[in-house]
Amino acid sequence: MTANGPQTVTTSESDGATSDDAMTDDAPLGSPRVDDAVIESRDLDVYYGDDQALHGINMDIPERKVTALIGPSGCGKSTFLRSINRMNDLIDIARVEGDLYFHGKNVYDEDVDPVALRRKIGMVFQKPNPFPKSIFDNVAYGLRVQGKDDGDVEEKVRTALERAALLDEVEDQLDSSGLDLSGGQQQRLCIARAIAPDPEVILMDEPASALDPVATSKIEDLVEELAEEYTVVIVTHNMQQAARISDKTAVFLTGGHLVEFDDTNKIFENPESDRVEDYITGKFG
Ligand SMILES: Nc1ncnc2c1ncn2[C@@H]1O[C@H](COP(=O)(O)OP(=O)(O)O)[C@@H](O)[C@H]1O
Ligand SMILES: [Mg+2]
Repeated sequence: MTANGPQTVTTSESDGATSDDAMTDDAPLGSPRVDDAVIESRDLDVYYGDDQALHGINMDIPERKVTALIGPSGCGKSTFLRSINRMNDLIDIARVEGDLYFHGKNVYDEDVDPVALRRKIGMVFQKPNPFPKSIFDNVAYGLRVQGKDDGDVEEKVRTALERAALLDEVEDQLDSSGLDLSGGQQQRLCIARAIAPDPEVILMDEPASALDPVATSKIEDLVEELAEEYTVVIVTHNMQQAARISDKTAVFLTGGHLVEFDDTNKIFENPESDRVEDYITGKFG
């Protein structure tokens, strides 16, 4: 905590947020509370040095649904996504204040192991980043790090590849390099790697923005399927994509404010905020 931050009162008792906790004045328009919340963000501020990238983010993320984060470049979407599984810890000048609960436990409590947290809350990045290893070893990597190399690795690798809609395409080449796959296949390989350790939540930061339209549509189909088993949070700058594949949409606008959060239909058909309406109808951004 440094002198220039707001005097946020944190409530980091391990019983976490309860449905009785009121959101503060920073609550966005719309319906920021959901039933079956897996993740609850309360008055979350993120700073990079002296610059505040996120201001008092209050929202819930529902279980086994797709939640989209949209908004113009630089409004803090990636910053918010990284604060969920403490990837911002890896950025020296980043500082987080406020509370972020996963199943009611504040992930910023001192007794939380960020590495263990990231196995429960996996991540897929914009640019496919397979390791320079075989397809099999890419997917097995997460299991081995976890010490779960207990004999059924092969079955778990196949299951993860199947869930990532890649098994049919690579079944006969599991020993060849992950780097030899097409961009779209590489991204599905990264998704398989993220789901192999059996996480509950998958965070995706513009996972299709480097892909061609056919590969993009495969990723979109896959995201919808993944939400049958996992909670998915996806950043996209593509509003049609958010409208197509998400159940809930959070609209961040310039300056790092969450302006509105609601069912995706409501956001795209009848948002409460005029600024959100202007943004989704393409008047700016
Ligand atoms: N590693 C970083 N160091 C310093 N500033 C950063 C860093 N990452 C992001 N920012 C700043 O934080 C703000 C939000 O960025 P970001 O979360 O990447 O937005 P988005 O994903 O919506 O484009 C921007 O002003 C950006 O310049
Ligand atoms: Mg980003």
